[in-house]
Amino acid sequence: MSNGIAPDHVEAGGGSFQGAVRAMFDGIAPGYDRFNRYASLGMDEGWRRAAVRELGASSGRVLDIATGTGDLAFAAERAGAEVVGCDFAAEMIRIAASKATEDCARSAFHVGSAGDLPYAGGSFAGALSAFAMRNVRTILGPVASEMHRVLEPGGKVVILEFTEPSIAPLRWGHHLYTRVLIPRIGGWLTGSREPFDYLNRSIDEWLSPDEFADVLRAAGFDQVGYRLLSFGTVALHWGTRASGSD
Ligand SMILES: C[S@@+](CC[C@H](N)C(=O)[O-])C[C@H]1O[C@@H](n2cnc3c(N)ncnc32)[C@H](O)[C@@H]1O
Repeated sequence: MSNGIAPDHVEAGGGSFQGAVRAMFDGIAPGYDRFNRYASLGMDEGWRRAAVRELGASSGRVLDIATGTGDLAFAAERAGAEVVGCDFAAEMIRIAASKATEDCARSAFHVGSAGDLPYAGGSFAGALSAFAMRNVRTILGPVASEMHRVLEPGGKVVILEFTEPSIAPLRWGHHLYTRVLIPRIGGWLTGSREPFDYLNRSIDEWLSPDEFADVLRAAGFDQVGYRLLSFGTVALHWGTRASGSD
């Protein structure tokens, strides 16, 4: 494990919104894993495994962008990849690095911003990101371009993000769950409701899966697609950096 990139490498791009998001994640980091398990009813681990399967990363160097406490990075490592996890919240990275176990100890974790990734172009065979795109929505174009830049030609990106079910009764149930129950569960586990009210707002303000697919295409990705998981509450996106692109 390493945490070799100093926090001062993190750029302040995206202005006060990005600064507030970083402070919020640093604050909730200690209760974050427990919140994930309860709030997703244990499904988050299956979503991460689905992302790793879609990437097909049994070997090669993989970047987990906005890795948080590292669970997606560890899932990819278990599948055989050599993983680097990067996040701008130093406290999330500290917890990720502290979770190394004997069977999962090769992943490296760095502090760094998704809008200015601290890696050379073409450094990774694959890239992953889970539940982070809503948080970078003010700098989405630069983040998508950075994901494209760090991939080697032919490399694939796979992204998980929440979305709203299109079938009305499912959408109403989803609203009830995210607007009423999630803030209560989050407040109980971390002592603060505000971040979980933010979670709802960020889902409301997030793009449709088709709109996000267009963002990936605009950044230069080919073979862009997505499928919906868990009754349309989660979208699994992918795209490939064209083999001929520099
Ligand atoms: C909802 S958490 C998801 C964490 C992890 N990927 C997971 O699946 O559990 C969102 C993460 O995005 C990170 N994040 C938000 N904006 C970022 C940015 N501009 N650069 C790097 N990380 C960012 C936060 O610090 C946080 O750890």
